[in-house]
Order: sequence, then C-alpha cells, then structure tokens
Amino acid sequence: MKKVFKWIGIVLGSLVGLILVLIAAFYILGSSRLNKTYTFPSDHVVVPNDADSIARGEHLTAMFCTGCHGEDLGGTENWFTDEALGRVDAPNLTSGQGGEGAEFESDEDWVRVLRHGVDPEGKPIFMPAVVGYSHLSNEDLGAIIAYLKTAPPVDHETEERNFTTLAKILVGAGQLGKLPVEAVSHNPNPPAPAAGATVEYGQYLVNVGDCSSCHGNELAGGPHPDPSVTILAPNLTPGGELVEWTEEDFLSFMRTGIEPDGEQMGTEYMPWKEIGLASDDELKAIFMYLQSLPKMEQVAK
Ligand code: HEC
Ligand code: HEC
Repeated sequence: MKKVFKWIGIVLGSLVGLILVLIAAFYILGSSRLNKTYTFPSDHVVVPNDADSIARGEHLTAMFCTGCHGEDLGGTENWFTDEALGRVDAPNLTSGQGGEGAEFESDEDWVRVLRHGVDPEGKPIFMPAVVGYSHLSNEDLGAIIAYLKTAPPVDHETEERNFTTLAKILVGAGQLGKLPVEAVSHNPNPPAPAAGATVEYGQYLVNVGDCSSCHGNELAGGPHPDPSVTILAPNLTPGGELVEWTEEDFLSFMRTGIEPDGEQMGTEYMPWKEIGLASDDELKAIFMYLQSLPKMEQVAK
C-alpha cells in the first residue's frame, strides 16, 4: 500500500510541476507579446491643415473616438477594470496636461497608434478599435489627426495600463484573443471609396466602425466580445430583423435608439449614440450595405 501512495505522490507532484512550468511559459510568452517592439515603414499619410479637413476630422472623431475617450477627448479612467485582470484607462487625447497630444512628437506617432496598434515606442496598445481604424483611408486618417492636433486642450491625467500577472498569462495562452497589432493587415493604402449614399461607402464605414467586432465576422450576430455580457448581438444581414426595417427606421434608430417596435435601446451594449452622429448619407450608406449582404441565420455562439 505504502508504495502505491508513494507513486501517486510522485505522479501528482510531477503534474503540479508540469502545470507550473506551463503557467510560467505562458507568462513569459504573454509578457514578450505585450513588450515586443514593432517598426513600420512610413505610410506617408498627409495631415492637412485646411478648415474643411479639420471639420471632417472633428466629425469622424465624434463618431469614432468620443465613446471611449470622452466627449471632450479628455480620457476615461477605468475604461476597463477587473480585479483579476487589471486596469486600462482610455487616455486624454488632447494637448492639455496629461494628454497624448502633448506627448506625441510627430504625425507618424498618431499613424502608428491608429493604423498599426502600437505606441510611439512601437509597443502594442490594447485598443481593440484599431481593427476598424486600420481601414481608414489616408485622407480620413489625416483629417482625424489634423483635428486631434487642434482639439481644445483638456487637463486630465490618466493612468498607464496595468495588467496583472494573470492577464499576462492569459495573453500568453491566447485566451484574450489577438492584440490589435497582431490582428490588422498594416495596409499602407486602404481603399477610399467616394463619400456618398452607396453600398461601397457603407461597407467602408462598417469596416471603420468595426461593427463586426460585436455583430460577428459576417455581421450575422453572435456573443458580445465582453464575456460578462450575456446579451447576443443581433444579426444585421437580411436574415435578421433589419430586413423589415425601412431606411427611415434605421436612421431614426441610430439617432434615438428607438426601434421600429417602439422599444428604447440602452447605450450600454450598442454604441448607437456615436454612430448616430453620422450624416444622413453616411447612415443611408451603412443601411444600403447591410441590406446588400447575403441572408444569414442568426449566430448564437
Ligand atoms: C472602444 C474604446 C476605444 C475607442 C472607440 C477608441 N479608443 Fe483610443 N484607446 C482606448 C484604450 C483603452 C486605450 C489605452 C490602450 C493601452 O493603454 O494599451 C487607447 C489609447 C489611445 C491612444 C494612446 C496610445 C498610446 O500611445 O499609448 C491614442 C492616441 C488613441 N487611443 C486615439 C484614439 C482615436 C483617435 C480614436 C478614434 C479614431 C480612438 N482612440 C478610439 C480605447 C478606445
Ligand atoms: C460594442 C459592440 C457593438 C458594436 C461595435 C456595434 N454594435 Fe450594434 N448592437 C450591439 C448589441 C449588443 C445590440 C443589441 C442591444 C440590445 O438589444 O440592447 C446591437 C443592436 C444593433 C441594431 C439593432 C438590431 C435589431 O435587430 O434590433 C443595429 C441596427 C445595429 N446594432 C447596428 C450596428 C452597426 C451598423 C454597427 C457599426 C457601425 C454596430 N451596430 C456596432 C453591439 C454592438
């Protein structure tokens, strides 16, 4: 009998040892993915300084950036916070005290963040929306940067990203998905369809708005990217409820959050308030694109 216990002890001991080695390996892998330095050749994005381009940049920034960085772009503390995983603030983007705009030395610094998902030192940032912004045309990206450089300064300090050991282990084990820098195509010259109420322009806005991060790769819906959210993102293809909406229903929903059946949607899960800042033509284009998609079944998991 004693021998049996001894063997069980040895087997269990080696199993625990093996698991510890594995955890250490994931930790090292996760830390090295988060600390890797990337370099990219210049994208030659021209940053304009005429009033029209700056106004265009302000419009795009309101639609795409204020949801996380705050209405005045002064940053959001605890944008993500979890006792086990750590804390990530969405930083102040202005040239005020504590703002990124005050720290960035060149237009290329902005391009690296928004198109490639790395900070000015070339280290990965944890801003999932980059997957959408990597589709911004050189012209629109230039306009956004032009506006950010002139945005009214806000004094507001935010904290550096602080991931726990567990978060680094999970990154190493691939449990937190790809980092934006690993997920985007780094295309130096993304397609730039002419603005207007067209299917092509709608597809461009849906790509930039990264609707698929919640509504699924084929926009057929699916689970929310935040696993603590149990509500499903609905199917946006003609296989879903949208097939019965009119263009007017769609515009009115994005502007008010009220669905055609009269139900008021909250702002916690679906960023309709920011998307609703789009112009009529932009919203029409998005609707036209969604209606042109192949009919799909709702994805449930
Ligand atoms: C879904 C939320 C979200 C949206 C939308 C978003 N950001 Fe961010 N952004 C973040 C978070 C979170 C960080 C901090 C990432 C980190 O610390 O790794 C960040 C970081 C940044 C940084 C600093 C990068 C660095 O050097 O560390 C810049 C600049 C930035 N965002 C610009 C923008 C602009 C411009 C837009 C709109 C085109 C935008 N963001 C939209 C969440 C968001
Ligand atoms: C952060 C996740 C997220 C993003 C990004 C997002 N959505 Fe949604 N969307 C949701 C969720 C979740 C719902 C359902 C919310 C509810 O029922 O309270 C929803 C609902 C909708 C609805 C209502 C559909 C119906 O059948 O009731 C439409 C239309 C829609 N989204 C379009 C879009 C478009 C277009 C984009 C991109 C420009 C987008 N969404 C981006 C999460 C998201």
